[in-house]
Amino acid sequence: MVDRPSGDKGDKTGITRRKFTLGLIIASIAAALGSLLSLLKILAPEEKGGGYVSTIKPGDRFVYAKGTNTGAYIKVSSLNVGDAVLAYPEGKTSNPANIVQLIKLDESVYKPPTHINLTDQGLIAYSAICTHLGCTVSWVEKQKLPDTSYTECFCHNSIFDPTRGAKVLGGPAPIPLAQIGVKVKDDGTLVFTSDFTGPIGPQV
Ligand code: FES
Repeated sequence: MVDRPSGDKGDKTGITRRKFTLGLIIASIAAALGSLLSLLKILAPEEKGGGYVSTIKPGDRFVYAKGTNTGAYIKVSSLNVGDAVLAYPEGKTSNPANIVQLIKLDESVYKPPTHINLTDQGLIAYSAICTHLGCTVSWVEKQKLPDTSYTECFCHNSIFDPTRGAKVLGGPAPIPLAQIGVKVKDDGTLVFTSDFTGPIGPQV
């Protein structure tokens, strides 16, 4: 039987303690970093817009987004006063950020803050993505507003006034739908003439 020197035992115990202490320090640093990251996440402002980035350019033509005419040019002659359709720019239909609601109303109904210079022959276009959580808006014919139809998002019932720059009349949407320019070409088709006038997509 070989007796170990007492100093050997002491060294091993010392090494074990040092390892243990080192482990504790590493664990504490990791925990502190985790807490710091969580705090930064809470303090960092949420990115608004939900990742919606439009690729519409002036000169793009309006095409139907839905229905039997999907993909076909929209012509001014196909819309009566009070009508609204969902539309995309031609060739850019795979980007959901590009969807707009194209509305035709009597020219006299538009009031500030509508960008009247971005309308043509009573036609007006707004982003069709609700600024609350991003559902696609719908068109509701004369029911609640006294003298015009309106835009509503049925997900949580936000209501937008198309005659006043898509001002929010009710519901949780925080800001109006952004407007975008529309112009009638000589052949009766419609083109976009501007970028959106404000942010699109969810803004909460
Ligand atoms: S997503 Fe439109 S009201 Fe909530």
